[in-house]
Amino acid sequence: MPRMANRVAPFGTTIFAEINTIARQHGAVNLGQGAPDFDGPPEVLRSAIEAVNAALNQYAPGIGLPMARAAVADHAQRFYGQRLDPESEVLITAGATEAMFAAILGLSDPDDEIIVFAPTYDSYVPNMRMAGVRPRYVYLDPPHWTFDPAALEAAFTPKTRAIIVNTPHNPTGKIYSPEELRLIAELCQRHDVTAITDEVYEHILYDDQRHTRLATLPGMADRTLTISSLGKTFSVTGWKIGWAVGAAPLVTAVNRAHQFITYSVATPLQAAGAEALRLPDAYYRGVQGDYQRRRDFLLTALRGAGFEAPTPQGGYFIIADWRGAAPSSVQDDVAFAQWLIREVGVACIPPSAFYEPAEKHRVAHLARFAVCKKDETLQAAAARLAKIRG
Ligand SMILES: Cc1ncc(COP(=O)(O)O)c(C=O)c1O
Repeated sequence: MPRMANRVAPFGTTIFAEINTIARQHGAVNLGQGAPDFDGPPEVLRSAIEAVNAALNQYAPGIGLPMARAAVADHAQRFYGQRLDPESEVLITAGATEAMFAAILGLSDPDDEIIVFAPTYDSYVPNMRMAGVRPRYVYLDPPHWTFDPAALEAAFTPKTRAIIVNTPHNPTGKIYSPEELRLIAELCQRHDVTAITDEVYEHILYDDQRHTRLATLPGMADRTLTISSLGKTFSVTGWKIGWAVGAAPLVTAVNRAHQFITYSVATPLQAAGAEALRLPDAYYRGVQGDYQRRRDFLLTALRGAGFEAPTPQGGYFIIADWRGAAPSSVQDDVAFAQWLIREVGVACIPPSAFYEPAEKHRVAHLARFAVCKKDETLQAAAARLAKIRG
């Protein structure tokens, strides 16, 4: 009998797939999954077609097309003043997801520990488990998702090899403050630990927020691996083009794993990505303006329907306390998500999906809504949500 490996058997299927299935069955407006329901910019899509027609269809070099690596390095210089050598300090990967897995495999050994902040993006801990690495959790506390500095300090042990920092953060919308980043930087240096950052929402910023790259803090250039991707900034999540950048020894280690995971990634999409990254500032400002409008609209709709929602600072999501909007028979976030689909016709994600089983209670009163949707989709959701109060 074929038998599933013990390595993957505990993973099960994700709540995301389950929510999508019941949302479809009930014709719900889906604010669950963090994928835009609109297309990327036409000039970026055209670049991909042109690249296919220009015969860019064979394997790219394993570390990435030279034009893609140069564009990633120039983007880092342009937005953050970070200087990178595209020959040795940039690796192109199959999205941020592959970059993270390759980083964990390339930068830690079995029985090492990696510190993560919970709620935790869903791939990190399964990646660690497949690598034989132990997660050490530091909790972000709702409603403002701050953490206890003493708890962070205590999470560093002699076994700590790395810390993962996702800013802007999924699912909370938190942007780590300069003081928080400074503390992380100080602890990494004190304990000789590598920081791995996930910055896929680096351009989805609200109000007057600014994105700070941990790698640019004093003392961090040599010990930070920065991961990001095209998907969110250019609304092409299906392209799965990402990158890991940092000092050459870090990138070399990540590439040791990458070369035997994917070897290289979609050549024409790397070429189109290079063009995308070079779009003028007006494009990036436009992304922020569009997202600001979407976030404000959905926030107003949720608050009007009885949800309490702190204002997210960045990223694709609003986390809302549903207790003022649901009947008292609803007991937790999974039950709430099911109730909302069935009775209201709107789908959201229960944020307990981002926690280990024993800690799911921390967010049982919350729901995650995606703002990366067309105006019509958000309007349809708002009309349904308004019926809760009605
Ligand atoms: C925090 C975070 N990291 C990584 C990803 C995935 O990025 P990619 O599609 O580039 O693999 C997502 C997508 O939702 C995300 O929210």
